[in-house]
Amino acid sequence: MTTATRHATPTNRHAAMPTPTATDAAMTAGRDARGGLTVERVSHHYLANGRRTDVLDDVSFSVGAGQVACVVGPSGCGKSTLLGLAAGLMRPAAGRVTWNGETVRMGPTDHLGMAFQQPGLFPWMTVRENVAIGLTTRGKSRRDARRIADEFLDTVGLHEFKDAYPSQLSGGMAQRVGIARALALKPRLLLLDEPFAAVDAFTRLKLQQEFKALLKLDRPTVLFVTHDVPEAIALGDVIVVMSQRPAAVKTIIPVRREERDRASLAYAHKLAETLACLGVTSDMEGE
Ligand SMILES: Nc1ncnc2c1ncn2[C@@H]1O[C@H](COP(=O)(O)OP(=O)(O)OP(=O)(O)O)[C@@H](O)[C@H]1O
Ligand SMILES: [Mg+2]
Repeated sequence: MTTATRHATPTNRHAAMPTPTATDAAMTAGRDARGGLTVERVSHHYLANGRRTDVLDDVSFSVGAGQVACVVGPSGCGKSTLLGLAAGLMRPAAGRVTWNGETVRMGPTDHLGMAFQQPGLFPWMTVRENVAIGLTTRGKSRRDARRIADEFLDTVGLHEFKDAYPSQLSGGMAQRVGIARALALKPRLLLLDEPFAAVDAFTRLKLQQEFKALLKLDRPTVLFVTHDVPEAIALGDVIVVMSQRPAAVKTIIPVRREERDRASLAYAHKLAETLACLGVTSDMEGE
């Protein structure tokens, strides 16, 4: 059972806010959780053009070492902001994020791999060079970096495009390069922002399977943002459901192994439960 799972209070699963118990437990866990990520009472806002946008409102949860937490919530609620804070790209306005028991600080880190919604590839580098660059900057020889890059490009099904330039790729292919780049680092903390959003449904399922197999090998701690509830059930040990902006944690839903079998009744129940938390009924026919 994950740290976050243990902190999800079943009686509170559909409450608008986590109970103090869940919050307190998450906060306690962060101090000694080796390889764990903890978000402690984090609030955040942006100031732009004289306007303040409140984004996160007292968000608390934790992800145990080697566990996968999938974050779902309405568009614009603050999921990417949450990942940015976990990555140390910015500082929370209030609260703190800890990794391995230490407050996440801004600046370079060597435990982190991240794939953004926009993959941000260097246009002057080939696909292989784009993946290898992260490895050479972390001390790998050019030869090892190239070999590892090739391995992960094979994993994401891009072996024929290693020498292509980003401008020659589709959006989905570029996104897969971004995933390969993050995975190739074998990070202890992996932050993924809708990594499979731009690929077709079939490729997406294949990537999910590959991803799951890779997780078993290296067991990173993962925060995975997705809009796809079936994907969250397939990959997450827990699903963190966020509310509308300014987003709070609406509920944390644990996922059991048997609930991942898409042909099972247990899966259908989990899907309906998660969609209901997001305010969606599973009845497409209506009244
Ligand atoms: N740098 C910024 N400056 C000002 N406002 C920002 C900035 N980045 C994000 N926002 C605003 O913060 C809110 C949350 O944005 P964020 O990208 O975190 O949402 P999201 O949940 O990831 O959305 P989506 O599901 O569409 O990717 C939005 O209203 C957005 O306009
Ligand atoms: Mg986003």
